[in-house]
This record gives sequence, structure tokens and C-alpha cells, in this order.
Amino acid sequence: MYPDVRMRRLRRSDALRRLAREVTLTADDLIQPLFVVPGSGREEPVEMMPGVARMSPDLLAAWAEDLSVPAVLVFGVPDAQARDETGSAALDGEGLVAQAVRALKAARPDVAVITDVCLCGYTSHGHCGVLTDEGEVDNDRTLDLLAGMARAHAAAGADMVAPSAMMDGQVRAIRQALDAAGLEDTAIMSYAAKFASAFYGPFREAVHSAPGFGDRRGYQLPVANRREGLQDALLDEQEGADWLMVKPAMPYLDVLWALRAESLLPIAAYQVSGEYAMLKAAAARGMLDERQTALEALLCIKRAGADAVITYYARQACRWLSEERGG
Ligand code: PBG
Repeated sequence: MYPDVRMRRLRRSDALRRLAREVTLTADDLIQPLFVVPGSGREEPVEMMPGVARMSPDLLAAWAEDLSVPAVLVFGVPDAQARDETGSAALDGEGLVAQAVRALKAARPDVAVITDVCLCGYTSHGHCGVLTDEGEVDNDRTLDLLAGMARAHAAAGADMVAPSAMMDGQVRAIRQALDAAGLEDTAIMSYAAKFASAFYGPFREAVHSAPGFGDRRGYQLPVANRREGLQDALLDEQEGADWLMVKPAMPYLDVLWALRAESLLPIAAYQVSGEYAMLKAAAARGMLDERQTALEALLCIKRAGADAVITYYARQACRWLSEERGG
């Protein structure tokens, strides 16, 4: 105890602080999400997410050229007229995401491509699965569609598929479909603990996927329930997930920390659109230092147990980190 113990002794110089540092953030920890639209030559900024744009597949090779993160996470954003009741365009082996995967793999075979597997961007009603006559999301009928979507992505060359619809049994259904198609080497990153969060707001603008009626509380996790989140994540592990994910990240660090203690699988945390938009908005008004707060948020997510962080800041963070090393 003080005065015998003085914690500040080890904080006195940069050298001493560097020696005692427990976690470090590097480019290797980051996954860059990316939104793909049909057509060619299309690049549309997402208003609510400054620095993020939707792009057509032909632009991806140039976009990926100087990418220094190990992985990207691809979201398909079909045009409104391509959406229907069951999200059938999602299963197209020559569809938007398949084209994006091929383009990325051709340009940068060294970058891992992960694809989001969910129907919400493809259904006319904006829910993550097909509906029953009563207008509820039909879990079991949705499983086949998610499996078909994952198979299309994997066949196009995706390294991992990332189911995010929060249907029960989706990891098992996808694993079985991939194995049956001879795609047993494609990994599954499960959005295992995905909460019914209001922090997804800006993303729904980016992909036009806000549900046309109701909300997602019938399938995504209740925000108050950590134990339920852990149970759901551990079930995904039993179903054959190779990676688990906690989403959102910063308001859910307790879930991340607890899951870290319960599983030996690698765990990703998703710093979602609302977390990004908050930092951007505050920085734009001079309320926060963007670089310092963004890097702090990412580092703290890692400290709480994430092996990788999915973040719209991935590219920018790599630049900031290499400047820090240089200077
Ligand atoms: C698809 C999906 C969502 C996000 C990732 N995949 C939206 C949702 O569930 O409503 C959110 C990502 C973000 O906010 O950055 N189901």
C-alpha cells in the first residue's frame, strides 16, 4: 500500500509504459466492411457514415489495391426492384456478392473475404427471413434460404461466411449445406451474440434494410440479457461455428469478456455503424479527437477479449497506426 507501493513508478516514461503494455492494436486485428451495389462505375457515399461508400463490383480491384487489413466483410445491397418476399436474389450464384467475391479474390488473393449471410437486404419487407401468413419470421423455412445463400458465396470463393439473421439452427444448416457441396474448407463466422440494438441505425440507411413493419426483437437478442447472449453463442459453437462474434461492440464489452472466458474459439467484435457515426459526428463538431478516440475504442474492444474487430475505421486505423510507428 501507499507509501510503499507507488503505481506511478511504472508510468513515468514512455519506455516504462511501453514495457508494461498489455495489449496492442495492429492492422492484423481489423476487418473492413464493404457495401456492394449492382452495375458498374457506381460509387455512392453513405450520408450517415462519412468515409463509407457503396460500390459496384468493377471498382473493387482498385479499392482493394492498397488495403493492409487481413480481411474484408462484404454486404450485398441489391436495387429495390430485385427484392422480393423471399429474398430469392440472395441465392444467385452469379449475384452481387458472388461477383464481388470473385473481383476481390482476383485482385487480392492474399486478403480473406468474409460475406454477410442474411436476407434483410434482399427481402421486400426488410426482415431477415421469410414470413409466415401471420407476418412472423419463419425460422425453419428461412434456414434453407440462408444455407443456399452461404453456398453461393462459398462457391464463388469466400473464405468465410458470416450468418447474421439470428435464426435458430442457422450455423448447423449452413455447415451441412457447405459440406454437402464439397465446400468443407469454407469457415463460418457466426454473428453469435447479435443484439436487437438501436446502434444499427446508420447501417440500415447504407443498405436500405430497415424492416418495413415491426422490428427485429423477435429474433435478435434482448439488449438486457448477457446470459442469453452467451447461451446463444455457445449453441453456435456446438453447431460448428469456427469464429464467434459479439455485436455491437462498445456497449457490449461485458458480453465479449464473458464469452472470452467460455469459449476457445476466436472471437470478433463488430463496432457497428452507430458506434462509428457517433465518433464521426462528435469529431466533426470538434467535440472529440477522432484519431485518438477511434484508436482507443478499437484497442479497448481488443482488451475486452476480441481477436479481431470489424470496423468501418479499419482502413483509416491502418493509416493512423503506420503513422504512429513512423513518427
Ligand atoms: C444484417 C446486418 C445488420 C448489421 C450487420 N448485418 C443490420 C441489422 O441486423 O439490422 C448491422 C451493422 C452495422 O450497424 O454496422 N442483418
